[in-house]
Amino acid sequence: MLTQQSTAAALLTRYRNVRAATMRFCAPLTPEDMMVQSCAEASPVKWHLAHTSWFFETFVLAEFVANYRPFHPDFRWLFNSYYNALGDMPEKKLRASFSRPPLEQILAYREHVDARLCRLLEQTPEDDVLRRVVLGLEHEQQHLELAATDIKHAFFTNPLHPVYQETTTEQSQEKIAPPLEWVSFTPPSPGIVEIGVSPDPAAIDSFAFDNETPRHNVYLAPFRLASRPVACAEYLAFIEEDGYTRPELWLAEGWDTMRDEGWQAPLYWRRDTTNRSGWSVFTLHGWQPLGEISETPVCHLSFFEADAFARWSGHRLPTEFEWEFAAQSQGGPFIPTASSSGWVGCNMLEQQSFHPQPARGTGLQQLFGDVWEWTQSPYTGYPGYKPLPGALGEYNGKFMSSQMVLRGGSCVTPASHIRATYRNFFHPSTRWQFSGLRLARDGAS
Ligand SMILES: [Fe+2]
Repeated sequence: MLTQQSTAAALLTRYRNVRAATMRFCAPLTPEDMMVQSCAEASPVKWHLAHTSWFFETFVLAEFVANYRPFHPDFRWLFNSYYNALGDMPEKKLRASFSRPPLEQILAYREHVDARLCRLLEQTPEDDVLRRVVLGLEHEQQHLELAATDIKHAFFTNPLHPVYQETTTEQSQEKIAPPLEWVSFTPPSPGIVEIGVSPDPAAIDSFAFDNETPRHNVYLAPFRLASRPVACAEYLAFIEEDGYTRPELWLAEGWDTMRDEGWQAPLYWRRDTTNRSGWSVFTLHGWQPLGEISETPVCHLSFFEADAFARWSGHRLPTEFEWEFAAQSQGGPFIPTASSSGWVGCNMLEQQSFHPQPARGTGLQQLFGDVWEWTQSPYTGYPGYKPLPGALGEYNGKFMSSQMVLRGGSCVTPASHIRATYRNFFHPSTRWQFSGLRLARDGAS
């Protein structure tokens, strides 16, 4: 167990790294890029920069620093996202109208919060403060991922279709994914497995969100998971076999949503007769012919499309419990390891590929990174679930209706943010995240 002082020192280093990662991601963006809010789910990058600082100011500095003077009295309500216990806030759809405060003031706000937060950590504060800072860092990483997906949608919507990052030589080399195989899982008799986390209150440096708790028993029958996520080429076959016009493949709400929205392919695909595949795909590297990325995992699917594809293929989506059991079976909770060339074995934000890559290797591949994997599990509280006390109880718990769980992180998830028990959740019609699927089937071979 680390001493209090070394825990605070390690957290100070992590704080600086996480905050710097956000700014590094923003480096290629112009102030005008940071103002765009191009769909209902998205927020301007400038708002993300302010809101993440607001989180530290509201839930750490204002609560734990005696006589703390806020950076600006209006920021407490202006950059509140959805915490009703703290009072009213501007409507989400108005965030693109925040031309004031100017970006320089938002950057000064970040520096103000950083200076106060670092001073606090240097004073080796009590455990409650350290835990709250850890929560703030996990929150910052969530918003960094959102900034990546929001700017992708903003650039897609822009008629000039700007490129966030030019394609590197390595990324443009054609790679072939291994054939899809089935990996069997047989839970120990009588099929009761443990899912979720019961955090050790003494271990400040091991974090889980409240929605991952408590650890509890779940029944699992033997099952198989596909060795890798579904690739673009496989999804193209679903499109070409009239997947989007066959009602027997779709859930009722999915069928109506697909027709109302005019979906004929994943978000960011467009028909393009100028290349052989007949499609182009918008990426953070700009438009790419589908033929050049056909072996990469398909992404930007709604739950409804993922579910329809699974039916068409004769299989199904895994439950979130099957997914977690499989991830735990791979050697316990995921701990990414750093090397001089990046993070070993997974394509996440630090790799700076900004797009899913073709699978490699054998066995269960790409469980973490590349694409979030839709599961067939509704997002609800585990038995015995208790939200955090106070306003922070609104962080996760109040969204436990009409959402489905996704697992595993994506190519724009920071590696230190993901773990085997992590539960992401979105409405089933959501497509702007890097969301794909992995097939499952009943029985073990
Ligand atoms: Fe937030």
